[in-house]
Amino acid sequence: MGAGKSAMTSSEKHKKLRKSQAENTDQHHHPEEKIKQLESLGEAVHGDILEVFAGKGNLTKWYSTKGNVTAMSKESTGNSFDYIYKLRAEKRKFDVIDIDGYGYPDKFFPVVFEMMKPKCLLIFTFPMVGVQCVNGIYEMHYAVFWKSTRPSIGDVVGGITDLSLREWIVPSLVDVMKIKPILRFAFMCERKKATEMCNVRNR
Ligand SMILES: C[S@@+](CC[C@H](N)C(=O)[O-])C[C@H]1O[C@@H](n2cnc3c(N)ncnc32)[C@H](O)[C@@H]1O
Repeated sequence: MGAGKSAMTSSEKHKKLRKSQAENTDQHHHPEEKIKQLESLGEAVHGDILEVFAGKGNLTKWYSTKGNVTAMSKESTGNSFDYIYKLRAEKRKFDVIDIDGYGYPDKFFPVVFEMMKPKCLLIFTFPMVGVQCVNGIYEMHYAVFWKSTRPSIGDVVGGITDLSLREWIVPSLVDVMKIKPILRFAFMCERKKATEMCNVRNR
């Protein structure tokens, strides 16, 4: 540390990060990079679109040019972890579901698989493993949700496949993009008939 510089404690660093996130700076939301990826997905982005953690609407404006957007934000719909179950109870179905939180998307699985039209594009943000210090709690969380204490892209694909198959949905990874400290995964999810998947006939 150079003369005159003061060291920040980790709690101070955390507070600074949260303040900067609350100020909606692009440094934390990377809208341009996210939109570039969405544009590369072409026609798949259309129709009834659900944005979980829409925040201040950086992506909402762009999504609105592609379809009918349900944007969940603290201000409009309250806590996304609760409101998702209201939409589920109303049996709402979507062509596109984007989960863009600061943390991991895990708590929205498997519920979002029950909210998909027969074909649905699922996009989510996944913080890079190791960006935050991997302590025992993170390790346990990774192991429980993603079956690995250091989940790779392949582990995430495996986890998503296990969860979606509960609803007879087959996911295909169509893109994964690294944007600074996060990965943005995109899966095309397609519902199949259970009878066809299991090669049995209903009598
Ligand atoms: C990573 S930002 C993404 C925002 C938006 N998609 C964008 O690109 O600007 C996550 C947003 O979710 C909000 N948020 C955090 N916890 C939330 C919660 N429990 N319910 C609803 N929104 C929440 C944050 O305030 C922040 O605006």
